[in-house]
Amino acid sequence: MHIRIFSTAESLAHALARNVARAVSVNPSLVLGLPTGRTPIPFYRELIRLHRAGRLDCARVRTFNLDEFLGVSPRDPRSYRAFMQRHFFDHVNVAAAQIHFLDGMAGDVARECARYERAIIRAGGLDLQILGLGTNGHIGFNEPGPALVARTHRTSLRAATRRANAGLFGGRLTAVPREALSMGVATILHARRIVLMATGGAKARSVARMVRGPVTPRVPASFLQLHRQTEVWLDRAAAGRLDAARFRDLR
Ligand code: GLP
Repeated sequence: MHIRIFSTAESLAHALARNVARAVSVNPSLVLGLPTGRTPIPFYRELIRLHRAGRLDCARVRTFNLDEFLGVSPRDPRSYRAFMQRHFFDHVNVAAAQIHFLDGMAGDVARECARYERAIIRAGGLDLQILGLGTNGHIGFNEPGPALVARTHRTSLRAATRRANAGLFGGRLTAVPREALSMGVATILHARRIVLMATGGAKARSVARMVRGPVTPRVPASFLQLHRQTEVWLDRAAAGRLDAARFRDLR
């Protein structure tokens, strides 16, 4: 794993946005895997700024979001789809037809998951998957447990994850769906390049377990150790439990 540590969450977001803008200028039809959550908001804000400054043209970019709540319509303001519209898509020029999302209202869930996998393959695979990290070590909605599902699937959310997402549901835990659809760990690992971003001290423990611990479904993010091009972008607080001497070996 390639570890990069930034002094603040803001400087991380700016550097990553510039990095992605460069990747898009090299390959204008880049296939981007995108996360939701609080962590990427400053990154999206900076991408929007670069777009407005004429330094990022998304006209041919294709995007696939990681996950969506089950039973929540894409038009519902609490959906991840609506989150992405608010924080990113409404402000840049990604073509609507090039924005891909799992449909939380799909009647046939297995079919919807298979459709998503096929759509990613048809796009030529993910060039760059950006990830956040759950405090319990989840990526997307791949939750810790005795086993992981490799491909896009229906999944039950752990209490900690539902609590972390309560903000979208007016702070009401009982309103947070118990299930979701998510890319699987293999879907993520097939991306050519992966950048996981984590900021804040609350993530320090799962960052350390992801980077240093055994590869285990108890820490889904630890599977990123198996990918040859995983970059872990951290602020100082999130890197708080990595000792400098050790992570140098991991570059
Ligand atoms: C949610 C998402 C994840 C995200 C995680 C962390 O559960 N499904 O993709 O990485 O939250 O969120 P935050 O960045 O708000 O800590």
